[in-house]
Amino acid sequence: MTTSPGIEDLLEQELRDIFGKEYLSSDIRVGKGRVIARLREVSRLWEKTRLLTLAHRVGLLISKAIIRTNMNGLNDIKNNIILSPIAEYVTPNTTFAIRAERAGIGHEYTSIDIARKAGEAVIEAVKAKYGLPPKVELDYPQIVVHVDVIEKEMYMYISLTGDLSLHRRGYRIYDHPAALKPTIAKAMILLSGIHDNEILLDPMCGGGTIPIEAALTFENTTNICMDINSRHLNGARMNAIAAGVISKIKFVLGDTRNIGGSVSEIVDHIITNPPYGIRLGNPRAIRKLYKDFILSAYKTLRYGGKLTIITPEYNYVDAVIEAAGMTLRKIHERKVAHGGLYPRIIVYEKK
Ligand SMILES: C[S@@+](CC[C@H](N)C(=O)[O-])C[C@H]1O[C@@H](n2cnc3c(N)ncnc32)[C@H](O)[C@@H]1O
Repeated sequence: MTTSPGIEDLLEQELRDIFGKEYLSSDIRVGKGRVIARLREVSRLWEKTRLLTLAHRVGLLISKAIIRTNMNGLNDIKNNIILSPIAEYVTPNTTFAIRAERAGIGHEYTSIDIARKAGEAVIEAVKAKYGLPPKVELDYPQIVVHVDVIEKEMYMYISLTGDLSLHRRGYRIYDHPAALKPTIAKAMILLSGIHDNEILLDPMCGGGTIPIEAALTFENTTNICMDINSRHLNGARMNAIAAGVISKIKFVLGDTRNIGGSVSEIVDHIITNPPYGIRLGNPRAIRKLYKDFILSAYKTLRYGGKLTIITPEYNYVDAVIEAAGMTLRKIHERKVAHGGLYPRIIVYEKK
């Protein structure tokens, strides 16, 4: 399985919870953005796979190898693919496509080079076994073969979940320009520790990803989705309709700098993804927004309640809390990959 780097442990736990010991052997391995598990049996695999909320892709691992980062790495990829059992799955009667990804520094080759070399290797392996090559079909392949190079490791797998990543939930009909990956939203919800019968507020909810994921996870949380922008708030409503959770979310047009002006409840959880400010290009304005938001969030949060935030401005958030003398204690912090950045998810508890 693949996921966003930084939430692999949560995916591993979800996998254990959904599949259980009956299906999983105990040796689960975790790499950067990957969780590799051995299944004792594959019956009901699809039924269980569909329940995973933190995975991006689920695949059948065909080959895993350490490869070089210089141009010789391309030959390492080719040799490993030729030695792999890929020709048991791709035959002259099936069409296939390679989807290549590369992450990490120091590679002399690009993902396009990886795809080209891997494609050649698959064709060679199939020809060696059957005497005929398979057909490449880039748009609608019957078999999607992924070749991911993550630093020095190559993972080759056949997608078991189609060509689209599972983080593309079908409900996102309004595409917010700075939307959070639903898998990361779900990770924030799990890390916050929220449970049924609690009140959650996302005071900068954009397209509604966090309240929607919460509403999909819990029967009985009260979910409040607030944004200052009515276009985004209407978009969040549309997404909630598509997700089938419109009746479980309250939508509020309001300003996060004065939450109490629009939301009368004292809440158990504030879980939010404020603007990062990278695109706004005005660090002072964004810092002022953060400061006013934290002061306002503190008033709306009950004692014992949690503030869970994802931001690249984690040092600034700490500084604001300290300067204001707020009794918000950090109880969790982790780095995650999101949109080419490494923001942190931080959970604070109001003491
Ligand atoms: C990074 S986006 C949130 C994206 C959201 N998590 C999603 O997945 O769609 C930040 C949101 O904060 C909202 N925002 C900015 N300033 C605000 C303010 N003062 N009060 C409330 N919302 C604000 C923006 O309109 C934007 O929708």
